[in-house]
Amino acid sequence: MGRVTLVDVFKHRITQKYLQRSGIHHAVTVAGYAFDMAVEKGVDPDLAAKSALLHDMGHYEWYRDGKWDYDEYRRHDIHAIKGAERAHKLLIRLGEDRLTAKEVSVAVLLHTDSYLPFGLDEKRTPLQHVVAKADEKDEQPMGLHHYKEMDKSEALRRLHELDQRIEAYFDDRNPKSG
Ligand SMILES: [Fe+2]
Repeated sequence: MGRVTLVDVFKHRITQKYLQRSGIHHAVTVAGYAFDMAVEKGVDPDLAAKSALLHDMGHYEWYRDGKWDYDEYRRHDIHAIKGAERAHKLLIRLGEDRLTAKEVSVAVLLHTDSYLPFGLDEKRTPLQHVVAKADEKDEQPMGLHHYKEMDKSEALRRLHELDQRIEAYFDDRNPKSG
């Protein structure tokens, strides 16, 4: 079976349902940052981009107007835990390799330590570190990065381009023989 692409992941109805809440713009932007940082650090860019694309899919009811209280949301927040579970389920459904699905899921779980009673700074693996840093790079105060707009067609264009860069990265490492 061929590689499960970022485009495959993005088009799935589970992704479409949950990425609306945390924002397609943020997810796609962080996936791009994670790809670049992964290549730079010698981390698998496919794992990094998939983890980054899905890192916030555990966000729930994130209101645009209305009475949403960001501080209150943060206090009750377990989006990393929900996201880890959802990302794993989604990838398994798409036929992803089980170890890849697990690595992505754990990277989603540990992309933030804001819900944990301890910090993760020195404890993350290189993959987990790349995903956390890529997320930080796109963050804005009060969660404003979740409200930037991006059309679905623009998201697909950017993800297709990233897929091509990921495939080129692996082709360069494993030139096909014969
Ligand atoms: Fe994020």
